[in-house]
Amino acid sequence: MSGDPSTTNDTTNDATDDATSNQPTTPAWVVNPVGPLRGSVTVRGSKNAVTKHMVAAMLADTPSRISNCPDVGDVAITAGMLEALGCGVELIDGVANIDPRFIDSSRVPLRFSGLNRIPILMVGPLLHRIGHAFVPLVGGDEIGARPLDFHVDALRKMGAEIEFTSEGLEAKAVKLQGAHIELPYPSVGATETILMTAVLAEGRTVLDNAATEPEVIELALFLQRMGSRIEMRPNRRFIIDGVETLSGAAHRLKGDRIEAFSYLVAGLITGGEVRVHGCSQDRLVTAISTLQGMGARFEITDTSISAWADSLTPAAVQTDTHPGFMTDWQSPMVALFTQCKGISVMYETVFENRFTYVPALKQMGAQIELYNTPLGSMETRFVGSSTPCSVVVSGGNPLIGTDVTVPDIRGGFAYVLAAAAAEGRTTIHDTHHLDRGYNRPIENFEELGLDIKRVEVAAGSGA
Ligand code: EPU
Repeated sequence: MSGDPSTTNDTTNDATDDATSNQPTTPAWVVNPVGPLRGSVTVRGSKNAVTKHMVAAMLADTPSRISNCPDVGDVAITAGMLEALGCGVELIDGVANIDPRFIDSSRVPLRFSGLNRIPILMVGPLLHRIGHAFVPLVGGDEIGARPLDFHVDALRKMGAEIEFTSEGLEAKAVKLQGAHIELPYPSVGATETILMTAVLAEGRTVLDNAATEPEVIELALFLQRMGSRIEMRPNRRFIIDGVETLSGAAHRLKGDRIEAFSYLVAGLITGGEVRVHGCSQDRLVTAISTLQGMGARFEITDTSISAWADSLTPAAVQTDTHPGFMTDWQSPMVALFTQCKGISVMYETVFENRFTYVPALKQMGAQIELYNTPLGSMETRFVGSSTPCSVVVSGGNPLIGTDVTVPDIRGGFAYVLAAAAAEGRTTIHDTHHLDRGYNRPIENFEELGLDIKRVEVAAGSGA
């Protein structure tokens, strides 16, 4: 399963770290496989929780302290947006101190347009503080249409007037009220918007068909710590009774389950063993049971999880909302499938454009076919879309390093995993996506023994 260092072929491409000075350059990573990856990695708080906690801190009358923050681009982007609103943000050694007392602007500047998914979450808090909000159009990975209709419908139900302009979304409200909202799909972001709006709204909000991802529950608990009155009921129901004021709170973020899974796969795909610290077992239960079904063995303690395998068998997996197999685990799993002898199937049901990394894996020698036929038991969220929702992987043949260009955060990490298992050097272009979402990935992979380094390459030299 592992790349054999003796087969490393430095002539597979022309990546260079000394791109000529007068040419524009872009960041890239160069990976030379070294065989099985072994060692320990500690993951920090999750990218998809930290930024939401930073926004929640806007709701309080006093400062909040969020620790175990990952060193990821999304934190810096969110800090920049908060500061532009007048919010104090101090980021030191993984601790974010957020002081909302001097927020005096309701407009997130246009320079933050398209950078991540966070601005829409600021609408509720800004309406509570100032009665008005402007947020630029959201960005994030191009993994599907990612509409905002659930957020907007819920905000309108709670009394906000909302208009879309060519630049973003303008909202105003004199007073927000609780409402009965049933989401058409348990959207993570829309659930977070509703929670962060309902906690200070007048009266009761009943939210049905809510997302229950661990990061959403973590946010709800943080809001409770701030003084919110939130009840969690069975069957995806939240009941929130609005309060007059909230106080700042302190929280140590829980470990990133996407990173944790990805590093466990890094060990498995190279025939090694990686021990992950910092992410508890309950966040990985479905990932662990799926890998166990393929023959992986685990040592699980209160503080760490490690995985190894003598050999792995193929599997059929479909992505789902929590507690199912999460969509963000999909691309590392497909990379792993390429090295499991036999036919595996991955069926994506959450986002309609999450297989954009597949052509590059095929270029590396993986045998993968894309289908727009559902190869699983449930409907996708995007019925009727013409994009592929299923892949069939004929695994077990060697991968060969080449030049690949990162399409989105999670697809990009699948390239690193494939490159670690491949023969020869891989140059991964457009790695800024990876820096937005992973905490010190180069250092972590180096700890595991991988030969990986950052370089600057001539712009446009990617695949
Ligand atoms: N949807 C709508 N309308 C809406 C909102 C969502 O149709 O108003 C649809 C989406 O298009 C998608 C489905 O509902 O088909 C689920 O979307 P959701 O709102 O749950 O996703 P999100 O909040 O935009 C977060 C994470 C994603 C993660 C998903 C699912 C953040 C910043 N992003 O996105 O993470 O995949 O939940 O768990 O929290 C990543 O980290 O790489 C990433 C994409």
